[in-house]
Amino acid sequence: MLAKRSEDKNIIDTVFTMVNKAKDAKIKYGEENVIDVTIGALYDENGNFTIFDSVNNVYKNLDKMDIAPYAESFVGNSDYLREIKSWVLGSHEEKFNVGGIATPGGSGSVSSTMKNILDAGQTLLIPNIGWGSYKIMAKEHDLEVVTYELFNKKDEFNVEDFREKALKIMKSQGKVLAIINDPCHNPTGYSMSISEWNSIVKIMNELSEIGNFILLNDLAYIDYSVNGYEKSREYMDNFKNLSPKNLVIFSFSCSKTLTKYGLRAGGSVFISNNKKNIDDYMRANEFTCRGVWSNIPKGGMKLFSTIQENKVLRDNLKKERDFYIELLKKRSKIFLDEAKEAGLAVYPYKEGFFITLKIENDKIKQSMEKLNAENIYPIQVASGIRIAICGSPSKKLKGLAGRIKTILK
Ligand SMILES: Cc1ncc(COP(=O)(O)O)c(C=O)c1O
Repeated sequence: MLAKRSEDKNIIDTVFTMVNKAKDAKIKYGEENVIDVTIGALYDENGNFTIFDSVNNVYKNLDKMDIAPYAESFVGNSDYLREIKSWVLGSHEEKFNVGGIATPGGSGSVSSTMKNILDAGQTLLIPNIGWGSYKIMAKEHDLEVVTYELFNKKDEFNVEDFREKALKIMKSQGKVLAIINDPCHNPTGYSMSISEWNSIVKIMNELSEIGNFILLNDLAYIDYSVNGYEKSREYMDNFKNLSPKNLVIFSFSCSKTLTKYGLRAGGSVFISNNKKNIDDYMRANEFTCRGVWSNIPKGGMKLFSTIQENKVLRDNLKKERDFYIELLKKRSKIFLDEAKEAGLAVYPYKEGFFITLKIENDKIKQSMEKLNAENIYPIQVASGIRIAICGSPSKKLKGLAGRIKTILK
C-alpha cells in the first residue's frame, strides 16, 4: 500500500517511551520517589505546566473573527509577518533584504527549508548532537544527512569540523544547507560566541565561491537567553558581510516564546544581501504553504502580533518570561555546581532548557538502564543523556548530579 519511500518510515520515539516509564514509576513508587527529567517544556516549582498569564489573557480576549476564519493569505497574516521579522531581527532588520512566511511551528519552518533548498538524494549538514526531528524531516524529504562535530576538544563550537564537512558537501553537490541551533542549543544548552559566529560567516563566504551556502539557524529557544533581547541578536550584524550567494533562514517558534506549543505558530524569517534570493525563496515557499498546510492558525498569529504591537503587553510578557529565565539559571546552577564537585562530565551549558551528560554512545543504553533502576528518568540523545531542567522543580535537582555520578561509576 505504501509508497516505496514510505515503507521504512517508523518513528522510534525514545522521548515518549521514557515519559511513560516515568509516569508509571510515579504511580508505582509515589511522585516524591521519582526523578522525572524527561519533560521538554517549562514547569514551575510546584511541578505544574507553565502557561504565561500575560499571553493567555490576550488570547482569551481575541475577537472570534481573529480565530475562526482562514488566515489572510497562505504565507500568513501581514501583521504577523511584520512582527516576526521585527522580533527575530531586532535592530538589524534594516541591514538586509528580508522575507518571511508563517509556518506551523518552528518545525514547519525547518521542514519547508529542507524541501525548498535541497533535492531528493542531496545531503543536509546538521550537528552530531541535536534535535532528533532534523533527521526525521530529512528522511521525509529523501535527503541524506552528514553531521559535523558540535564541539572541539576545548568544548567550543567546532568551527574546523563545520568547515571541513561543509566544504566536502559543497564540492560534491555545489550547494550547502547547514543547520545551527543557537542560542540555547537543544540538548546541550550551548550558545555560540560572536567570534564563533564570525567564523561561520567567513566560511559561508569562502565556500560561496563554489556555490550557494544556505544556513538555517533554529532559534526556537532564543527568548530564554540570559543575555537579553539585544545581546542575543548581536551576532546578526555580521550577516551584512555575507556574499550575495548566501541566504540565512531563521526558524522562529511561538511554542517556547509564548508557552503556546499547541497553537502551532512559527515562521521562517530569511535574509540575504541579494534581493533575488529573497524573492525566489518567498515564491517557492508560498507554493509549499498552499501545497502542504495551506495556512496556519489565525488565532496564533493574532496573539503574537497583538502582544508585539503593544508595549504594555510586551513588557508583561517579558516580566513573566524573565522570572523563568532566572529559574532556569537557578536550576542549572544547582545541577552544574554539583556535577563539577562530583566530577560528572557535562557538555558546555550556557543557558536554556537542557543540560546533557557526556556519555560514550556504546554506554548510553546501559547507563539509562542503571538510572531507570534508581527511578531517575532522563532522555537519551546522541552522545549523551539529557537532563530537562526546564521541567523539573529545583528540589528534585538537588543532589541529582552526585547520585548520577555514583550510579554510573
Ligand atoms: C531545537 C528545536 N527546534 C525547533 C523546535 C520546534 O518546535 P515547534 O514546532 O513546536 O515550534 C523544537 C521543539 O521542541 C526544538 O526543540
